Order: sequence, then C-alpha cells, then structure tokens
Amino acid sequence: MKPYIFISRKLPDDAVAILKEKYDVHMWDQEDVPVPYEIFLEEAKKADALLTMLSEPVNEEVLNAGERLKIVANMAVGYDNVDVEAASRLGVTVTNTPDVLNDSTADLTFALVLAAARRMVEAAEFVKEGNWKSWSPLLLAGQDVHHKTIGIVGMGNIGKTVAKRATGFEMEILYHNRSRKQDAEQELGAQYVSFDELLERSDFVVCLTPLTDDTRNLFNRNAFKKMKKQAVFVNSSRGPVVNEQDLYNALQEGEIAAAGLDVFAEEPIGSGHPLLELKNVVAMPHIGSASRETRFAMMKLCMDNIDLVLSGNPPKTPVKK
Ligand code: DGY
Repeated sequence: MKPYIFISRKLPDDAVAILKEKYDVHMWDQEDVPVPYEIFLEEAKKADALLTMLSEPVNEEVLNAGERLKIVANMAVGYDNVDVEAASRLGVTVTNTPDVLNDSTADLTFALVLAAARRMVEAAEFVKEGNWKSWSPLLLAGQDVHHKTIGIVGMGNIGKTVAKRATGFEMEILYHNRSRKQDAEQELGAQYVSFDELLERSDFVVCLTPLTDDTRNLFNRNAFKKMKKQAVFVNSSRGPVVNEQDLYNALQEGEIAAAGLDVFAEEPIGSGHPLLELKNVVAMPHIGSASRETRFAMMKLCMDNIDLVLSGNPPKTPVKK
C-alpha cells in the first residue's frame, strides 16, 4: 500500500504530479476555502504525511489522531499554527518553508512601506473614483522613504532581506532581535538597538518577528506611544503580534501617521473592521510570499520534505523545537 498524503488545500495538479507517482495523494478540493476541521481530523487519522497551510490548526488532537503520521510539512515559514511541542513528543517531524520566500516577502514588505508612506492606495482610489480635478502642490502628499530611518523588529532572513532593500533607499537601519546579527551589522550597516530605542528613533517600524508567547501583543498602546508622530508601522509577520484596538487608536488619534498591514489578528479580516475604515491604513490579504514563483517553490519544498521523511531521510528544513 502506498503511503497516504493529505494536502489541506487545492494545489495545482502539475505541482503535485511528482508526488502522485509514488504516493496515494488526497487533496481538499477547494483553493479558497480551508478544509473543515472535522474533515481535516478524519484525514489526519489516515495520513502518513500532512501538507498544511497556515490556516489549519495542527493541534494536539490532530497530531494524536494521526497514528501513522510521520511528517507535517507546513507551507509557510511561520509555524504558529502547529503544536510543535506535541509533534515532537509524538515523534512527528514538522517542517516549514524558510529562505525560498525571503525575497518575495521582503518585496511585499517594502511595497507596504512605500505604499503607506506615499499614500499610493489612497491616490489610486482617488483617480479611479474620478476625483482628480487638477494638479495641486500638496495633492496627496505623503512622506519620503529615502534617507529616513527604518527599524526592523525581528532580524531573521526576511528582516535582513528588507534591510538590503533599505540600503538602496540610503536609509539608516536599526534593528531589534533576540540575538545580535553580526552579518547584518557588517554587511548592511544595521545597528542593534533596544526595542524602545528602535520605536523612538524609527520613521518606519517594520514588524517581522514570529508569533510566540513573548511577541503576542508586542505592539500595544505603550509601543505606539513611543513612536514618532510621523511614523509608519508595517506588519508582515503575524496579526496577533499587534493589539489592533491600540493600533486603531494610535492611527485615529494621530499618534502615528500610517500603517501597512499584510496580516491581521483574525484572517480574513471582516470588511466592517474599524482598521479598514481608516484612509491611512493599507491592507493586504496576507500575500507576503504570494508570487507564483515563490508559492511554487514553497510547494516543492514541502513535497521534497515529505518525500525525504517518508523515505527514511532527514528533511531539508525541519522546525527546531
Ligand atoms: C509565511 O510563510 O509564514 C507567510 O506568512 C505565508 O506566506
């Protein structure tokens, strides 16, 4: 009997063709709708491998149900949706997709910096809605990005790739991270500072830290109060790192100037969410890594990891507990 693989979202047939030659591959059949939890749980019971998205809770119940389960290949660099501790206890390997998405995610992050600073979404809507009557000196004037200070919270590989882009804009680069990153300091001129100093000095505060118990609600009322009034806040890591009510208040009360958000506490964010009513918020539907090239590379990496583990080999990108 071929090992059973369940893929929790519909992936293109040509992307999974290789896996199908060797394995019994089953896929949830909808691209835009997550698999219902009950079905996911049933599939986990049969599976030797699960290829999951960040929308699936790979919790203790799912892992316990997977009596034959050997690997959970999560198609994201973040893995806060997976109970890694339970997986480790149960001897299930967990893998993620680091590195292949650094450039695409950094591009989107920097696009949010630019879009929020230069009011690009607001300006595009202004034109499309027929409101452009004449050129005028301060029409939709935003603020410069070049030669400003960017503060990156979470200097992992994506953070470094954002910093690299910032050098092209001749920005001063500050960062805060659990540990010092000598390579970023030497190669990109990034300066390590405390969290508070970063908030106080940065014109652009960019959040790229993973969601953990330590980072949940990191950007709260106190943090926004420390930022400059003209600061732009960008988040492309995970929504719950930010207290959205506090962010809303900070934007509404002019404590900070604007925000570019790719992630939200609840995804998808409801269309009536107060943050979406603000003109100074640029909101994206969690598309940091969403270029076709990168998404295919992420799928391939998941499949390589599954194939390696099911063949008794170590995976390429295991999540370390
Ligand atoms: C990730 O990989 O964690 C992203 O958020 C999904 O693209």
